[in-house]
Amino acid sequence: MYEEIIEDLKTRLSSKRFAHTLGVARAAVALAERYGEDPEEAYLAGLLHDCAKEIPLSQMQQLVDKSGLTIDVDMYVNGALLHGVSGAILARSRYGVTNPHILEAIRYHTTGRVGMTPLDMIIFLADYIEETRDFPGVAELRQIAFKDLEAGVLAGYDNTIRHLLDQGLSIYFKTILGRNDIVRRIKSR
Ligand SMILES: [Fe+2]
Ligand SMILES: [Fe+2]
Repeated sequence: MYEEIIEDLKTRLSSKRFAHTLGVARAAVALAERYGEDPEEAYLAGLLHDCAKEIPLSQMQQLVDKSGLTIDVDMYVNGALLHGVSGAILARSRYGVTNPHILEAIRYHTTGRVGMTPLDMIIFLADYIEETRDFPGVAELRQIAFKDLEAGVLAGYDNTIRHLLDQGLSIYFKTILGRNDIVRRIKSR
């Protein structure tokens, strides 16, 4: 299914990113099945989550400008953050996706957001745990992901934030807001 999209992605992504993309789509299906979400939505969102990752920042910005979306400046100048938003725009314009759940999961896959939906969480987590990922702690993260979706998202956030701290890098403010929201959700259940 979605052969045309897969073929197109193959020409637009490096072989490493293409393998990652297929891994995310597969991991997203597995998580969707585990948590009673729609595996087809998960598959398509996984396939397209990084569709804009390898275009130049100026092109990402053009897509955003044309869409009329308002983006904060921290995100606008950072391709590592902006590729989610521009990916959602491209998913609609180039691949004809109109399902808002899928578009939002693509948009927020890097940063998360306050009030993440189950599909948002599935794509956010699949991005970390897919089969080609190899980093210290990935095995534990895979286990948590299939045990408890929100705890998995929190572990994913913590992993990213720890990495940014270790590297002396800045932390995007909405990443903090997203993590705080997950902490609150876990505490209040
Ligand atoms: Fe990404
Ligand atoms: Fe990714």
